[in-house]
Amino acid sequence: MKLLVINGPNLNLLGLREPEIYGKQDYAALLDFLKNSAAEAGVEIECFQSNHEGAIVDAIQAAWGVFDGIVINPAAYTHTSVAILDALKAVALPAVEVHLSDVKARESFRQVSYAGMACLKTFMGLGFEGYRQAILFLRDEIKRR
Ligand code: DQA
Repeated sequence: MKLLVINGPNLNLLGLREPEIYGKQDYAALLDFLKNSAAEAGVEIECFQSNHEGAIVDAIQAAWGVFDGIVINPAAYTHTSVAILDALKAVALPAVEVHLSDVKARESFRQVSYAGMACLKTFMGLGFEGYRQAILFLRDEIKRR
């Protein structure tokens, strides 16, 4: 089983970026954590990060026929991008949304998730652990189908 993990804008600046919200660990630490989570789950993963909406749309489109599912933290594009929602719906791969922070407890402009409308489940407010839970959930969901 092969999963694509997509991280959106500014997540490459983890550690530097608002550590009181997103934690002190950097993006390299997240990649390590994802590698360990994939090994624990017994799945293969590929990780992709971009600050560009179109590049994320391209990655979702290219996932069709290559990956069995998608774990996505679209970051700020969560709240704005109909293009990412449409791409997820177009490829129709099982997808799970992750947010490091508890977006529900934050500003009103973060209360809508377009990508989330095409996802089976959302993990938020759990930091890195949310990605681990997303990978395990997606693995079980794909196996069950
Ligand atoms: C985020 C939450 C978004 O609202 C924000 O724009 C991000 C990160 C999170 O992981 O908590 O960039 O997706």
